[in-house]
Amino acid sequence: MYGLVNRALQQLVCARCGEEVWEEIRAHAGVREEVFMRMDSYPDDVTHRLVAAASDVLETPAADLLREFGRYWMKYTMVEGYGALLSDLGPTLHDALSALDSMHARVTLLYPALRPPMFRLTEVSTDGMSLHYHSERVGFAPMIIGLVEGLGERYGVSVDVRHVVAKGEGSDHDRFDIRVLGPAAAPQVATR
Ligand code: HEM
Repeated sequence: MYGLVNRALQQLVCARCGEEVWEEIRAHAGVREEVFMRMDSYPDDVTHRLVAAASDVLETPAADLLREFGRYWMKYTMVEGYGALLSDLGPTLHDALSALDSMHARVTLLYPALRPPMFRLTEVSTDGMSLHYHSERVGFAPMIIGLVEGLGERYGVSVDVRHVVAKGEGSDHDRFDIRVLGPAAAPQVATR
């Protein structure tokens, strides 16, 4: 996984719990890197170990941390200068979810070794849709819930996201059912 992801994890923990807690997590994970370089690729195992260690140290299920991380990713990528990619996703949440593959394809221009997930929408209706998540990685599915919640926030809608099919349980990918509940409490603009 590119360092950008591990950096975001580090920043999230530091912002919420302080640097000392991050250092404890890093030591517990047996990760030597004090700093992750955005553009360097690290073994996925590093990210997995950091999430598992954070779960132990913070006594919080890994799935909850990944969901929180997904929400944070939407803010982090804005601050890190990728806002234009998010602003180009289209005028509605549905458009944005349909455009995730082309967005990651654009990210590949910046990060050539990217191994992005792939998404597909089905069961589209006025109040929801199903999102199919295909990835060569395992263990990151809970992140999708936070990502879609964070994306919904950008579009001013609150969403209920359910992980209804997990990869490996007779399926080669994960499926999430998304229900659009209505306007978010504090709508944010979809453009920048
Ligand atoms: C401008 C915004 C974004 C940028 C710059 C970005 C970039 C990246 C990068 C660098 C990775 C690491 C992949 C690798 O190292 O091979 C990644 C992974 C991932 N991205 Fe994005 N991304 C963005 C938005 C999104 C959004 C909106 C979603 C979904 C709603 C998403 C879903 C994922 C997932 C699930 C993974 C990791 C898990 C896997 O590989 O299955 N990303 N992205």
